[in-house]
Amino acid sequence: MSTQTNSSLKKIRVGILGFGTVGQGTWKHLQENAHFWPKILGVELIPSRASVRSLDKERPVEISKDQLTTDSASIVDDPNIDLVCELMGGVEEAKLLTLRAFAQGKSVVTANKALICEHGEELFRAAEEAGVGYGFEASVAGGIPIIKVLRESLVSNEFPLIYGILNGTSNYILTRMEKEGASFEEVLGDARQLGYVEADEALDLDGVDAAHKAVILAYLAHGIWVNLSEVTVEGIRRISNEDLQAAENLSCRIKLIGVIRRNFTNDHVAVAVHPALIPIEETIARTDGVHNGVCLNGSVVGTVVLTGRGAGQDPTASSVISDLVDVVKGVNGISSLPKLVHVSPEQCQPATPDEIEGRFYLRLAVDDRPGQLAKVAECLADRGISLATVSQTPHEKDKPASLILTTHQTNEHSIAQALAQLKELPGVVDDPVLFRMFDPNGMS
Ligand SMILES: NC(=O)c1ccc[n+]([C@@H]2O[C@H](COP(=O)([O-])OP(=O)(O)OC[C@H]3O[C@@H](n4cnc5c(N)ncnc54)[C@H](OP(=O)(O)O)[C@@H]3O)[C@@H](O)[C@H]2O)c1
Repeated sequence: MSTQTNSSLKKIRVGILGFGTVGQGTWKHLQENAHFWPKILGVELIPSRASVRSLDKERPVEISKDQLTTDSASIVDDPNIDLVCELMGGVEEAKLLTLRAFAQGKSVVTANKALICEHGEELFRAAEEAGVGYGFEASVAGGIPIIKVLRESLVSNEFPLIYGILNGTSNYILTRMEKEGASFEEVLGDARQLGYVEADEALDLDGVDAAHKAVILAYLAHGIWVNLSEVTVEGIRRISNEDLQAAENLSCRIKLIGVIRRNFTNDHVAVAVHPALIPIEETIARTDGVHNGVCLNGSVVGTVVLTGRGAGQDPTASSVISDLVDVVKGVNGISSLPKLVHVSPEQCQPATPDEIEGRFYLRLAVDDRPGQLAKVAECLADRGISLATVSQTPHEKDKPASLILTTHQTNEHSIAQALAQLKELPGVVDDPVLFRMFDPNGMS
């Protein structure tokens, strides 16, 4: 390790907005690999300044007092700063600072998926117009180089299906619930203590963080910005130990997945994040703990699966630095990656619920009375839905029975209608629990 600088080489100075988990990781690894940048880039890459909210916090990564500021704009405006890393999170201030850097001809690297999901279209255009680079590899799946793979390595492919685990915290919770039989609340408590859960827990538990990433992947694969309000987003709060056991009995595991489908016949795109039963032989079903995994079905390459650490200081810094290197490699500061392709809304439309087909898993808490199953089956049949499997957990006195059903192929519209009817059915004592049964081979 060397942090000495070689005065004869050009120096590229990096300003880091946000010196938290990812900011400190980026700083640390830029310094630790200082000897390496001249060899691969012919320049020195020097972390120079960073911004924070509070100057008084203890920070594990060493930084001198005069390199830290609470004034992020002063870093962006500093004529000695060549490149900016936006690693502060949040949306509005991060956006203003990013645009401010572009306006000064400075490329920006970010890990901010919420910002890209909300304002990516505007920011990508602004970067293009300013002739600067905008790297966002770290915004999806942490250390897994999914964005580069989509933009570069698999550039000759169309993608009818991309799916995967995009949120490590929810995967950690589900894995421990399944393997240890621990309750949701118990594991969530541990996840909080380990610092795995975002301050706004809904991001992890209600699928919002994964939805941000799915929107970005949909854009990269199809050039269309799907509005978050058009994305089906369901989280993991309703998954019980009973569901995890029932899934195992069906040779499946339950994972929270992001799914991006495109029908190339009518050019409709569907983006969703929800729990799903996945056949155990699929790599994604066996991707456990805080790991992420993304499965790409490419029209030329076939299936490619990438798994790895989807968050955390070091994996995320690995992706941030990869973008920094790309930006430096690019001519005149413009990223060496292929240009992003925007598609007009007329060319590619969101899919409607009746177009999205699949099989479903249903758990109903019912009064254990004769004819109950027949009523449920009739309700489903009214919507053209037939049952594939039925099981009932042993009935405990004074408690409702659990009816676990799986359906044959139907569509999202029909199942939503049936669900609304089932909720009102006499004898059904709680809101039904519904999960998709995901079959990557059957595109359901
Ligand atoms: N953590 C991960 O594993 C991970 C993975 C992928 C992507 N990301 C993304 O990376 C970004 C950073 O995440 P993180 O986990 O590193 O967050 P973090 O640990 O909370 O760090 C955020 C840093 O930004 C500073 N900051 C926040 N608002 C600021 C403001 N208005 N002005 C100046 N400084 C400000 C904070 O200052 P103080 O320290 O003084 O509070 C802190 O140093 C987010 O967009 C996140 O979604 C994170």
